[in-house]
Amino acid sequence: MNLILLGPPGAGKGTQAKRLEERFGVVQISTGDMLRAEVKAGSEIGRQAKEIMERGELVPDKLITAMIVARVQRPDAQKGFILDGFPRTVPQAGALDEVLRENGLTLDHVIELRVDDAALVERISGRFTCASCGEGYHDSFKQPKVAGVCDVCGGTEFTRRADDRAETVGARLAAYHKQTAPLLPYYAAQGKLSSVDGMAEMADVTAALSKILAPGA
Ligand code: AP5
Repeated sequence: MNLILLGPPGAGKGTQAKRLEERFGVVQISTGDMLRAEVKAGSEIGRQAKEIMERGELVPDKLITAMIVARVQRPDAQKGFILDGFPRTVPQAGALDEVLRENGLTLDHVIELRVDDAALVERISGRFTCASCGEGYHDSFKQPKVAGVCDVCGGTEFTRRADDRAETVGARLAAYHKQTAPLLPYYAAQGKLSSVDGMAEMADVTAALSKILAPGA
């Protein structure tokens, strides 16, 4: 099963991709996580992407597409993948169609998570992550069971993303509406697009996604 989770920043793509990964045994491929790893490693790609990401803009199609073309051909992606954060422009979607065709792969679903802009700002500005294992939390919606201690690994250090500052969130939302929203009619024309209410509780969103992916289950 190969699918794309589409949605604005903070829609819950990463949260839901992790849950679907466990439930369906497919691998999450997050271009945002891949880029942040490159920035952390100080690689050439990371050097090129860092300032663009901190401004809330999209990194050039060419750079991101090369990363994805290599990633979807790795062995762990052969049993299925969830693309989280890619594609984000129509040229990226065209490049994805091409690499899938060349490798005899198909795209089974494209699912949009719909969330109001006001809710997105609240979600993004409250988000933090365990510095050791990467488990995600939120000041209002998902706090660790013991304050200051990660539920998963017991880590006590947490980080906030550089692009989650209020002034950058506006630029990220603008980039979504201008450059990524045109993918909705693109995939609707291919008959692959479904839409889910991303404003619902996390568990209800997971249930709605699972119903699309495994209708009879
Ligand atoms: P990326 O890392 O992809 O960020 P994003 O799309 O802005 O999405 P987020 O990770 O912020 O949000 P999400 O939808 O995963 O939500 P989450 O589950 O965390 O990209 C970062 C940057 O990298 C881009 O700006 C760009 O510069 C660059 N980039 C990446 N891919 C690129 C590409 N293809 N082309 C060009 N540039 C690219 O949830 C958010 C919060 O809400 C969490 O705290 C969560 O706990 C909470 N939450 C989730 N669901 C719910 C719910 N149902 N109810 C209440 N709270 C919820």
